[in-house]
Amino acid sequence: MSKSISGFSKLSKSKKIDWMVETYFSNAEQAKTVLKQYWNTNEKLQKLHDEFIENTITNYYLPLGVAPNFLINNTLYTIPMAIEESSVVAAASKAAKFWLDRGGFKTEVISTTKIGQVHFMYHGNPEALTSFFNEVKPKLISDAHPITKNMEKRGGGILNIELNDKTKDIPGYYQLHASFETLDAMGANFINSCLEQFAKTFKSEALLFDGFSEEEKNIQIVMSILSNYVPECLVRAEVSCKVEDLTESENISGNEFAQKFVQAVNIAEIEPYRAVTHNKGIMNGIDAVVLATGNDFRAIEACAHAYASRHGKYSSLSHAKVENGIFTFWIEIPLALGTVGGLTGLHPLVKLSLELLHHPSAKELMQIIAVAGLAQNFAALRSLTTTGIQQGHMKMHLMNILNQFEATDAEKQILTTQFKDQTVSHSAVVSAIENLRSQSSL
Ligand code: MEV
Repeated sequence: MSKSISGFSKLSKSKKIDWMVETYFSNAEQAKTVLKQYWNTNEKLQKLHDEFIENTITNYYLPLGVAPNFLINNTLYTIPMAIEESSVVAAASKAAKFWLDRGGFKTEVISTTKIGQVHFMYHGNPEALTSFFNEVKPKLISDAHPITKNMEKRGGGILNIELNDKTKDIPGYYQLHASFETLDAMGANFINSCLEQFAKTFKSEALLFDGFSEEEKNIQIVMSILSNYVPECLVRAEVSCKVEDLTESENISGNEFAQKFVQAVNIAEIEPYRAVTHNKGIMNGIDAVVLATGNDFRAIEACAHAYASRHGKYSSLSHAKVENGIFTFWIEIPLALGTVGGLTGLHPLVKLSLELLHHPSAKELMQIIAVAGLAQNFAALRSLTTTGIQQGHMKMHLMNILNQFEATDAEKQILTTQFKDQTVSHSAVVSAIENLRSQSSL
């Protein structure tokens, strides 16, 4: 049984590592070597990473890939993607190229409103609370002015504050439900600071309100926090073309492909087991760009799946139809993103990714990321409804298997050529490696 430790966060990095490897690892030196291999020799850069979080012991790398040829509203983009899954960047690139020849992606930001709430308890007369709220609302906004003034200068700020009665769900539970425009910032700190100020003003002003009894004056603030559910921070991305232009192979007509594709999307619309995997494919594209651009993929994930359930049943985030001979495939997804603040000005690779994307505004980034999701979904459905997913997936996975067996460059070259027109399976690759090695040892 390992022992607990107190004061761990105050130890130096090397002391933390010493404690950890000695407590948990059979070969402490080997564990230390692995950790060290991932440190950056550039001390300044390593310090930057050390200070992103508490108790950093090393860095955890993900590959940063790029998918070129994305034509979005007539502008060409090369999209950066940070992801470990072998086939994702290849699939995105393939979908980008496919739609490049068919007019590209069309996108539109529908709305950009963010949400935050002060949750509080009040057990008195609801009408007195409404009168108090109406009276105090201008002061809630003016007391937050020191926080909002810079955002207001740029055209953003607090949009509205409403009082919500939630007493049917929990006796005495109410909310201040506030909406915000945070422009190019994701806005989490801005929103949370405003909310905490609202809570302070609300509580202190209640003590002075004549319309409350002594008991009613005692409003209990439970918490003040932004909501990562932002159904009104919404973007739409779409592709469309004539059905006959959909095909690239002799094996399937454009019409047959369109029918199967729409069926696949319809299934994801009504069947949650399929919808989750369908949306996971979308998030393969979305998360990779969210990560590369220094945004919060947990927030994006939580929101996307809540949005996918907004009608009371988990469903597809994308939709497809054929009408008058035109195939249309689209996604509408809430994406709360920032291109200033947070990691965007700190992480050198995030800065590089944003430059690659022509320094997008948050609205432009919403459009690019929605496209990455739609492209990924298109690529997955295209494979699933034609060749099946494993052919492409395993081709990309081949390198992982070869690396597991520590194949040399020469072995990799021979085996990737061999598997160009052979089905890749784990066992087939293993026997091919064994075969090759037994031949060369003869
Ligand atoms: C794999 O990461 C993603 C897919 O399963 C998505 C899908 O099934 O649509 C291929």
